[in-house]
Amino acid sequence: MLLKASHPLPLLSPTSSEASPPPPASLRLALSLPKVQTRRGRVVAASGGHVITGVVFEPFEELKHSELCLVPTAPDQSLARQKYADDSEAAINLQINVEYNASYVYHAMFAYFDRDNVALKGLAKFFKESSEEERGHAQKLMEYQNKRGGKVKLLPIISPLTEFDHPEKGDALHAMELALSIEKLTNEKLLSLHKVAQKCNDAQMSDFIETEFLGEQVEAIKKIAEYVAQLRRVGKGHGVWHFDQMLLDEGAAAA
Ligand SMILES: [Fe+2]
Ligand SMILES: [Fe+2]
Repeated sequence: MLLKASHPLPLLSPTSSEASPPPPASLRLALSLPKVQTRRGRVVAASGGHVITGVVFEPFEELKHSELCLVPTAPDQSLARQKYADDSEAAINLQINVEYNASYVYHAMFAYFDRDNVALKGLAKFFKESSEEERGHAQKLMEYQNKRGGKVKLLPIISPLTEFDHPEKGDALHAMELALSIEKLTNEKLLSLHKVAQKCNDAQMSDFIETEFLGEQVEAIKKIAEYVAQLRRVGKGHGVWHFDQMLLDEGAAAA
């Protein structure tokens, strides 16, 4: 209703003065002031050479010519969407896919370390939680996509490895090195997503990625890098069992 007003400020319209009740004293003062032409061609009331702001409701004029007044009526269009570029929407969908792929690989690692003939329960627990965490990231991005008025498009997930043993490194170190690669790759993808937000001048999206993802990603890389370093020290045998117990204890402490 407001956007369809024929005049930005009907109270100040000379044509409406007959039908309307007399304006309050403060407005009568404003109405009696001389008018000046601004550089942008708008007429505002002035007093003693000083422009009085707030007398002319400029936002109404701007709304008339802005996309703000274009509220979509098609049922398949978002009502909330504003300044959200198609490139940003597509990039968010790609990042959802990256997170799901990471989640899938970690889930495969959980299944491997949980086998009865592998039985490294600390690693199984760690990768199960990692898988859930990556799915949580995908969920957060999906909610963000909807918040901005985009549409979530789920892309195919690559089938992960099922065997993680390695003749020289053993399974624990091999899996943890893979995890470190995945986290670094995810970080690169997040930085690319951030670049898209910046290219589109989307300050809110940049802030979202920085606040919700970039810091946590750097923390994850540091943590897994330390696990890789520790597994390189302990070798493939008995030391791996101790490392696995440490992961179990860390879980217990966190709980
Ligand atoms: Fe993630
Ligand atoms: Fe991660």
